[in-house]
Amino acid sequence: MSIRRLPEQLVNRIAAGEVVERPASALKELVENAIDAGAARIVVRLEGGGTDLIEVTDDGCGMAPEEMALALERHATSKLPNDAIEAVTTLGFRGEALPSIASVARLTLESRVRAADGWSRVVDNGRLEGEGPAALPPGTRVRVERLFEKVPARRKFLRTPRAEYGACLDVVKRLAMARPDIAFSLEHDGRRVLSVAGGETQPERVAALTDKALAENSVGIDLEREGLVLGGVASLPTFNRGIADHQYLFVNGRPVKDRLLAGAVRGAYAELLARDRHAVVALFLDVPVEAVDVNVHPAKTEVRFRDPSLVRGLIVSGLRRALDAEGFRSVQRPSDAALAMWTAEPTRHPRESGDPAYPWAGEGSGIPAFAGMTRVGDRRPAFFAPPPQARAEPAYTPPPETAHFPLGVARGQVAKTYIVAEAEDGLVIVDQHAAHERLVLERMRAGLAGKGVPSQALLLPEVIELEEPACDRLEARLPELAELGLELERFGPKAMLVRSVPGPLGQSDVAGLITDLADELAAYDEALSLKERIDHVAATMACHGSVRAGRILSVAEMNALLREMEATPHSGQCNHGRPTWVKLAHGDIEKLFGRR
Ligand SMILES: Nc1ncnc2c1ncn2[C@@H]1O[C@H](COP(=O)(O)OP(=O)(O)OP(=O)(O)O)[C@@H](O)[C@H]1O
Ligand SMILES: [Mg+2]
Repeated sequence: MSIRRLPEQLVNRIAAGEVVERPASALKELVENAIDAGAARIVVRLEGGGTDLIEVTDDGCGMAPEEMALALERHATSKLPNDAIEAVTTLGFRGEALPSIASVARLTLESRVRAADGWSRVVDNGRLEGEGPAALPPGTRVRVERLFEKVPARRKFLRTPRAEYGACLDVVKRLAMARPDIAFSLEHDGRRVLSVAGGETQPERVAALTDKALAENSVGIDLEREGLVLGGVASLPTFNRGIADHQYLFVNGRPVKDRLLAGAVRGAYAELLARDRHAVVALFLDVPVEAVDVNVHPAKTEVRFRDPSLVRGLIVSGLRRALDAEGFRSVQRPSDAALAMWTAEPTRHPRESGDPAYPWAGEGSGIPAFAGMTRVGDRRPAFFAPPPQARAEPAYTPPPETAHFPLGVARGQVAKTYIVAEAEDGLVIVDQHAAHERLVLERMRAGLAGKGVPSQALLLPEVIELEEPACDRLEARLPELAELGLELERFGPKAMLVRSVPGPLGQSDVAGLITDLADELAAYDEALSLKERIDHVAATMACHGSVRAGRILSVAEMNALLREMEATPHSGQCNHGRPTWVKLAHGDIEKLFGRR
């Protein structure tokens, strides 16, 4: 076997295997080059999700013709003037992006430095195809056409143009978020899909590129520790997503997809969100260059910190502190979409409208419009129908004068599920079960952090019959369950004896509680303690506690729940990250009635 040096073209193609995985990764390299070139405006055009065409035009410093030739050679870079890779402040530094891309596509590089003429160079799948003068404004334009056309192994792995476009959009968003001073625009198949002006502030840029509602449903982050600075925004736990794609993380202005950082974010929200829900964050971490190594990943999307625990701690406490300061705050106002659902009575005549909601009032039915008040086939007049499931209390308590009670004074209960309260500035609706579940979790956590969770003995111990493996699982956790206030004993092969239940639950449905817990334990990793799973365990327990949906509450009970929510951190969202209460501000109510 003889060893040989590989030809440059092959080396580039091998490098491309790491750097250029899909159109989005080529695009990322080109936009990063434009940023490094000091551009004030970057224009991106894509066709076919970037597989047919990626074009990036910038108004940066440009390159002279001889530099252009070098730029397309491997390991040629202008970005490490002192060979000091530790001190790199540019996005690029490896000197391999352009030659790699040019080895797997047709690449046209056009560039012009100020006060000189433009020049163009075309490389097709690693072969120089030609060069010559080009007319363009100062700056650089790179066109990448038919990516992977000659690399079938790679082409096979491309997803649909739609999916590839999605990844490209994500790349542009992240880079644009990192640099609010630069104007960006993105066009896909002739359609403008993103455009932001230069000279924006960081919060303006984040707001422009994320969900519009984030601004209202997030907290600002601002923390400094040992020379590390963390800024940005983080969503309230109630404002969450089913995927983690809406987490934007930056280290020294470089967008990263870093496991450590993502893990720290998850840790910060651990007890506020269900496992399968994710917060929305844009976090900007600035650290001294010597505290981080950016040269650990060919696509430069991961970094390595000298002191990972310091970084993790900074993120967890930065987020925690900001969220704690928000206390019980939930999504404060219903969204416009939710508001729109508070529809007024239809003013149209249902017979004219042919509205499918009034099938009995169609053409020639002869039933007058008010027949809509009764069900089809139900000939009784509406006033004999059963009363709606609501409970009203006389409004003997004067409306709250001060902001002492942000959640207001209970006025009634609807559908045995929602508490309606009057606050100084609007109408509050509380999901009693979700709120109670949250309070139970917080009480259990407080108990665990202090003297332990109090338990409440049952008047008569209860025997619960279960499958044998379920009993085995519970038995293995007896000491841990006791710490949570649940005292059990094995009672023969297929039953458990329950002596006491956790105090925070109030009266509970013991059989349901034990059966569900046994199910949950089956899903747990045995190495994990129940404390580590306290949010799930408590949620399961709270489900069987006293304030379930469907239970009628007295005014005193409702007010007690409201007051406890106000005093409990994170009571604004339930254990699954949904809001526990919403407020319809007076202004919103006025809007509903067309008074504004
Ligand atoms: N848009 C541009 N404007 C001006 N110069 C550019 C532009 N794109 C590339 N260059 C020049 O070409 C060189 C090579 O670019 P290339 O992307 O291959 O490597 P790099 O950016 O130095 O490092 P990396 O491989 O990490 O991206 C750069 O160092 C830069 O000098
Ligand atoms: Mg580069």
